[in-house]
Amino acid sequence: MAMAIKTEAGALAMDRGARLDGSARPASVMDRVGFQALIANDLAAVERAISGTADVPVKLLSRTLQVVLGPGGKRLRPTLVLLASHGNSRASLQRRVDLAVAAELLHTATLVHDDVIDLAESRRGSPTVNHVFTNALAVLTGDYLFGQSGALVAGLGSPAIMRVFSWAVMEVVQGEMLRPSIGPDLDATERDYLAKIRGKTAALLAMACETGAMLDSEDGEARRACHEYGMSLGMAFQIVDDILDFTATEAELGKPVGHDLEQGTITLPSLLYLRAHPGDTIVRAHLTGGVGLGEGATREAVDAVRASGAIDQCRVRASEYAREAIGHLSVLPPSPSRDALEALASFVISRHD
Ligand code: IPE
Ligand code: IPE
Ligand code: MG
Ligand code: MG
Repeated sequence: MAMAIKTEAGALAMDRGARLDGSARPASVMDRVGFQALIANDLAAVERAISGTADVPVKLLSRTLQVVLGPGGKRLRPTLVLLASHGNSRASLQRRVDLAVAAELLHTATLVHDDVIDLAESRRGSPTVNHVFTNALAVLTGDYLFGQSGALVAGLGSPAIMRVFSWAVMEVVQGEMLRPSIGPDLDATERDYLAKIRGKTAALLAMACETGAMLDSEDGEARRACHEYGMSLGMAFQIVDDILDFTATEAELGKPVGHDLEQGTITLPSLLYLRAHPGDTIVRAHLTGGVGLGEGATREAVDAVRASGAIDQCRVRASEYAREAIGHLSVLPPSPSRDALEALASFVISRHD
């Protein structure tokens, strides 16, 4: 969607917490799963620290950071850090908050760069830095956020946690680079799709959970369980995101919908649709290099996928991953934070934004 005049859009986005359409930022995941009180103070400290990140001496950077950080998202990654580290009394509030902020800033950096890659004009209901300013400034702003995230992790004094952060960055890059393609063997396409989302999305959620469990704790079993939980949760989360690209509205998502087919990006809904409709030409044309087929053709293709059984099949697959995620938690001792992680897995598959 074309956004308003660039300077006006930028000024609006700098009003912290405001989205372009005037709506409030999306409720955080904890506001929705019914465990608000558990980590409310920690999350409030996370919000303050994230806002403070835009206070830098270089004015232009401060402005681009405000465009990025103003609107705010669901805060899933910091929530995972806080819940995974919740039971560990040895980790101070400051250390837990630093790690949670680092995870959110790393996620945000990948989004800023992703929006350059995807030519995206809106994110979190507001215009992107690449749209308000330029690709060059967006790349630099993303780089700054990577640096700030790394500095926070370094401050924890744990090379093991730093290694997991670095692993996640390398996984995201490899996932973003994978380009599944439609060939005679759709099983191979599906494998490539799953590898892609494992890298670009699940690895970051796994990192958030795993490092939370590692913070001032030597419990290797909890660490492994949290990693696996995050991976499975991430798979469910991204499959739902790919469903929402077909079923949600732009107002709900805060980013354009129908974009995947328009850009020729293969995701699970269109893949399962093709399996069930071998005679189809319109969806296939979008996924085999037919970028720019025109708005009417893209709408027709999106409608065809949305009306098919592929969406429900994807929901089943997402639910299986969510169930798998919950299963990984069984080695952890019962606790309110474990209950909250379970509830989060249910939220991920029922979300609409
Ligand atoms: C967006 O993640 C990128 C994906 C992995 C789909 P979120 O949907 O968690 O984005 P925010 O943080 O709430 O904006
Ligand atoms: C997810 O990629 C973003 C990252 C993992 C960096 P997408 O391109 O699929 O996500 P959206 O739709 O821009 O949030
Ligand atoms: Mg992308
Ligand atoms: Mg994108």
